[in-house]
Order: sequence, then C-alpha cells, then structure tokens
Amino acid sequence: MKVAEIFETMEYGPAPEAAGPAVAWLDAHERSFGHFIDGAFVPGHDHFDSVNPATGQKLARVAQASPAEVDSAVAAARRALPAWSALSGHARARYLYAIARQVQRNSRLLAVLETLDNGKPIRETRDIDVPLVARHFYHHAGWAQLLEREFPGHAPVGVVGQIIPWNFPLLMLAWKIAPALAAGNTVVLKPAEYTSLTALAFAELCQAAKLPPGVVNFVTGDGRTGKALVDHPGVDKIAFTGSTDVGRAIRRATAGSGKRLSLELGGKSPFLVFDDADIDSVVEGAVDAIWFNQGQVCCAGSRLLVQESIAEKVIEKLRARMEKLRVGDPLDKAVDIGAIVAPVQLERIQKLVQQGVDEGATLWQPSWACPKEGLFYPPTLLTGVAPSATVAQVEIFGPVLVAMSFRTPAEAIALANNTTFGLAASVWTENVNLALDMARKIKAGTVWINATNLFDASSGFGGYRESGFGREGGREGMFEYLQPMHAPRPITLPRVTRVAQAPLVDRTAKLFIGGKQARPDQGYSLKVLGPDGQVVGEVAEGNRKDLRNAVEAAHAAEDGWAYATAHLRAQILYYVAENLAARASEFADRITLQTGHDGSLEVETAISRLFSYAAWADKYDGAVHGVPLRGLTLALVEPIGVMGLLCPDEAPLLGFVSLLAPAVAMGNTVVIVPSEHHPLSATDLYQVLETSDLPAGVINIVTGRRDALAPVLAAHDDVDAVWYFGSESGAAEVEKLSTGNMKRTWVAHTGRGWFDPVTGEGHEFLREATQVKNIWTPSGE
Ligand code: NAI
Repeated sequence: MKVAEIFETMEYGPAPEAAGPAVAWLDAHERSFGHFIDGAFVPGHDHFDSVNPATGQKLARVAQASPAEVDSAVAAARRALPAWSALSGHARARYLYAIARQVQRNSRLLAVLETLDNGKPIRETRDIDVPLVARHFYHHAGWAQLLEREFPGHAPVGVVGQIIPWNFPLLMLAWKIAPALAAGNTVVLKPAEYTSLTALAFAELCQAAKLPPGVVNFVTGDGRTGKALVDHPGVDKIAFTGSTDVGRAIRRATAGSGKRLSLELGGKSPFLVFDDADIDSVVEGAVDAIWFNQGQVCCAGSRLLVQESIAEKVIEKLRARMEKLRVGDPLDKAVDIGAIVAPVQLERIQKLVQQGVDEGATLWQPSWACPKEGLFYPPTLLTGVAPSATVAQVEIFGPVLVAMSFRTPAEAIALANNTTFGLAASVWTENVNLALDMARKIKAGTVWINATNLFDASSGFGGYRESGFGREGGREGMFEYLQPMHAPRPITLPRVTRVAQAPLVDRTAKLFIGGKQARPDQGYSLKVLGPDGQVVGEVAEGNRKDLRNAVEAAHAAEDGWAYATAHLRAQILYYVAENLAARASEFADRITLQTGHDGSLEVETAISRLFSYAAWADKYDGAVHGVPLRGLTLALVEPIGVMGLLCPDEAPLLGFVSLLAPAVAMGNTVVIVPSEHHPLSATDLYQVLETSDLPAGVINIVTGRRDALAPVLAAHDDVDAVWYFGSESGAAEVEKLSTGNMKRTWVAHTGRGWFDPVTGEGHEFLREATQVKNIWTPSGE
C-alpha cells in the first residue's frame, strides 16, 4: 500500500477533551445559578434549564431576571460608577490586566464549559474564542493606561447595559466589557439565554481579580430581561449584538431617551472568488468562512460568488472537501463542526434550506449522515441560487453556503453589495490591484483578502448599512464608551440696532438640487422674519417630493465624490471659502438682517471652518493596525454615503457650514435643510456653490419646516445617516424613524457653541461623518 493510500484509508479515532473541570465547576455550584450583582452571586427566582445541545442533557438551572432584579443590578452599577470612573487609567489597566491573566489561567475550564454550553468544537473554543478573550482584555488594559493621553477631554458614558448573543458567548462578553471598563464605565450585561454559563464563570474571575463590587454585574434571562435592561431609565448606553429585528426594536425603544446605542447585527457576507485565485486556498477559506462555529457567525462568508470560468471546478473541489468534514461531539478534538445551539435554530435552518430548494436551488450535502442524538446539521451547499432568492438575502445562521456566479468585476461588486447588510466580505484573487479595488468598493466594515474570519482587538469590528453601527475593538471602539466633556463656551454677539436694510427684491429663493436651482414641487413659500417680526424675505417650502429628488441627486453623485481625491475635495472647500470671503460683507449684512446681530464674526468663523475641514480632508485618515498577522490590516476612513443634515436655528450661516463641511470633506453627498427661521444665508450660498467647481448633486439644499422634513429624511431608505440639530421631540422622531434601513443618526438638541472651535468643529464631527473599514491583507507566499 502506498503512503497516499494509507492516508486516504485511515480512520479517525476518538480524541475527546475531558469535561472534568467544567463538570466539577458546575457541581460546585450545585448546577443552579442566580445573578451576579454588586460583586456577589444572589439567588434567582424563576429558573430555566441550560442544555448541552450536543447531547440534550441539562447542564444547569439558570435564573430569569425580573425587572426588579435588573433594577438592582443597575443600581449596583450606578453606585460603583463614581469610584470606578475616578480611578486613574493606570489603576483600571491593572484590573483589566488581572482579568486577562485570570482568563488565561482558567482557559481550559472556560473552553470546555463554552463547548458544553454552546456546542461549538473544542478546537475553536480552545484556540480561537478564549485566546481572543484574553487578547481583548490585554489590549484594553492598554487603552485604560493611555486613556488620559489618547482621549483628552472625554468622560465615560456612565452605566452601560450590554446584551449579547449565543454564538460567541465569552468573546462577545469580552468585546463588550473590556472597552467599557477601560473607559471608566460600569456594566450590567445580559448573556443569551442559551449560553449564560461562561459569563457566570467569568463573574468569578472578576472576583478573583478583585474588581470592585458593582463594576460588572450579570443578569441572566431571555429577551424579557433584555428588554427590561433596554427600558431601564438608569442606563446611559445600550450595546447590543444579535439579530437585526431585535436591534431594530431596541433602536425604537431607546429613541428620544438620550441613551447612546451601538448595534452589531446580522450579515450575509460575500465570499468573492476570481479566476486567478489559488483554488485550494479558496476551498480551505470557504470551510473557515461558513463551517466555522456551524456557520453561526454574524460575518460568516455565506454567499459564495465565483467567477463563471472556474465555478464548476471550485464547486467540485468544495464538495470533495465537504465530504471529508467531520460533524459530531464538539468535545472531540478532531471534529470540525459541532452542534447547533438550540432546537429553534435547527428548525430555522431546516426551514430556510427547504425554502431555498422550493425556490429552485440545488441542494448538496455529503453522503454521510449526521449523528442522530443532539442538534446536528450537515455542511450544506445550495447552487443555482438566484440573487433575489430568500436564501441569498436572509441570514440563515447555520452551516449553509449559497453559491452564485459572476462574469466581470463590476458584476461581482453588484452581487456582493446586493443585500441590505454590510458586515464583512472576503476577496480571493492573486491580483493585488483587483483585490484592493474590490475591497474599497464592497460596502462592509471588514474585508479579508485571501483570508476570512480573522479578528483582533486592535481592529474595530462592525457593520455598514443594516449590519448596524458602532465598532468593537480599536480606537473607534473606545469612542463608543466615551463622551466629549467640553461645555460649549457661549459668546455674546453685539446686537445691531439699526439694520442696514437692503431694498427687498420680490424674489423667492428656490431650492438647490443636482447643482441647479429648482422650483419647489408645490410652489409654496415661507416668509422669513427679521428680529422684530418684519418680513425680510421668502424661501421655497420644500416637501417630501423635493427631498426625494434631492436624495436621488445626492445618490447619483455619491460614487464620484466618495472616490474623488481628498485633495480635490479640499480644493473645492477652499474655493467655497474664497468665494464666500469675496462677499463677506454682503453675507454679514444678511445675517444681521435675519438675527439682529452683527454678522461679521459669523462670516469670518464660517470661512475659517471651511478652511478647517478643507485641511482635515486629507489629514483625517486611517491607520495600519498591528494585528497578529503576517501582512497588513488597513483601517480606512470611508464616507457613510448620502447624509441628511438638519441645521440648528442659531447661527444661520455658521450652523449650516458646520454640518455641511465635515460631511462633504469626508466624501459624503448631502441633502441639507438650513435653519428654518433664518434660511437666507444658505440660499445666498447657491451662487457661491455654483462658482466653486462643486460637482452637481454633492450638496443639495431644501428649505422648509425642519420638523416636517426631518421625518422624511429619517425614514428614507436611500439616506445612510441623519444629523439633526433641533427640538427634543424632533430628535426622538428621527431616531424612531431611522430603523427602516438602520441608518446612523446623530441628534443633538442641546446648545452647541458654534463659534467655539472646541465644540463647534473637530473630530467629533469627522467621526460622525465617517465609518471605518478594515482591510486584512496577509502577505507572503
Ligand atoms: P436575538 O437577537 O433574539 O438574541 C440576541 C440577544 O438579545 C439575546 O441575549 C436575547 O435574549 C436578547 N433579546 C431578545 N429579544 C430582546 C428584546 N426585545 N430586547 C432586548 N434584548 C432582547 O437572536 P436569536 O433569537 O437568538 O437568534 C435569531 C436569529 O438572529 C439567528 O438565527 C441569527 O440569524 C440572528 N443572530 C445574529 C447574531 C449576530 O451576531 N449577528 C447573533 C445571534 C443571532
């Protein structure tokens, strides 16, 4: 017999990891758990079973927290907050470091317990989940140490409510708790109902690390407990990872509450293969993309998009590889695919696969059978899938890969972006130019080139579009748990008693859409009143249809502007500033006419603001992260897309410029609604914009009633972000209506010092105008 034949015919023997340490730990707790509040375990009232999905055996009783228990956890976190946030960054760094050490010391217990509770293979918990947990705490010990220097002028957000899913129980816990504590917040975390045990084990590690009581609290339970945490008035921020539906409900529930929110939701990530790719690597990559963690991964490469010329070959090799995958006892070190977390998830997978077949896809599964005991599902491939099919659009969250083909790179991009999600993507090609071009054009928070499912604490993870907003990890992840501290410095503008009234021309300012002045749809107008109630002009009253036209124009300009060089964008902003400066006194008079204040300082400040953002256009840029990878991880700062901007009432010109300039400098196209009461400074800008080489559609201006227009922009599915500076109720409405496409919102109804360079401009604005994409590019042969 040849050696190759021996390899082919060898059978796997069992290689089980001993469950001993986890069983002993469960027994020591009499297999019954309460909540972890104020540094100690407290008994729960109602309980439910936590079950090993691989065997169906009950592992322990876990408590269902009532609103009263959530309240007591929030109260403990509130009590702990002053002392914890007052600690030096160094002191907090020591605690985080101690937790990281505890995780490493107890890594075997944690890995086995996670495998028992979740059903994922021990190879993954041992080699991926737990090491990444430790890495996250080490990395964030570093941010705590450097906090005062790296984030000057920032304070913690306060008490944070965190809700996590069951697919990476301990890792998601680490992603949530480490940055929150580093920044000085205190935490109440609710693990998923199927997988609470490692969080409770982690609670003991917090005790061992001598973390002060109340800094970290755990309440267990299902969605009802999660809801009680979301609704609790004592929580300052909610951080959620889970399904898009629940994310949407949380967005609605927190709208108008002033609570900060970050959401990491689902995905339907493309796995793009070009004809020059190394096919054997592609096949191994696909295994890691969709059969890692049984495919229960938010960023799973669940859509295989292959160039037509090699599609057949790739599918053939993939099937051969699938035939060799091993499904079974997750504690067996030679098992590739473990158990599905719960019966309801298994049913969901079965139902969706059946639906795929009913809609015309071809199903392929290996010839061998899955274990009958326990919740197992075989690796599955669906081919002949139409791009619009349910299985090509909906997150299956199981070991199911759907395959489609494309001919050209342009078609590949169109297919890749043809979902509502934008969490991650993989690109496989040996052509570096093509790889980077694809990586830039795919709308996703993470793109792996010739690799997949790589994570690191230094590289912020999070989505574009309906995959949510906010990042976990890295510098941008820290900002999710910090708030700027600067109080606006008010200034008093000299009041002008006698306005140099220019004779009124009987003319109604139009709208500015697609680079042209446009009549409003309905032909209505609004009177603009001066400080003493006298009519000083008229502007068009824009409506829903005008906004739709404006959004369409902004969309048409989107790619051209996003891919224009930063230098060009800067040049255009400088040019706008220059043209404004040439007419400074006219603009100053107009401000005076509308507000009664001397307008000259406002014009000067607006010019300076344009200069600032022109300067930042090519300076607020990305980073290369030091991830543990042979290669580079490029963190690109990208525009969000089409932005709806609703200007504050105060500072008619400066408020307008302060929103417009950062958005445009960063490569967004905008639909902007000027100050409702003083819109003339914006309509006067039309001519300035027309003579400043600005491409048509980059800036679209619709005058009208702010609180009639804001809901239209907030609900518009082609608007990617909305900034709203107006009333409290208007802000709540914007947040509530934003859930359609889960757009990012930035609402601020309290006064901001527009004249003040600290609160009126700067990185806060630039961050709100951008999103970070991480491109992982391994190197070497
Ligand atoms: P889910 O979104 O319901 O659960 C995630 C967490 O939210 C759990 O801790 C749960 O108890 C909590 N929760 C549920 N309802 C809540 C509410 N109204 N308010 C506050 N918290 C609430 O996800 P589920 O039902 O476990 O899974 C359903 C589907 O969601 C999966 O098949 C998958 O497609 C997707 N999913 C996506 C995840 C991701 O990482 N993107 C993670 C988990 C699920």
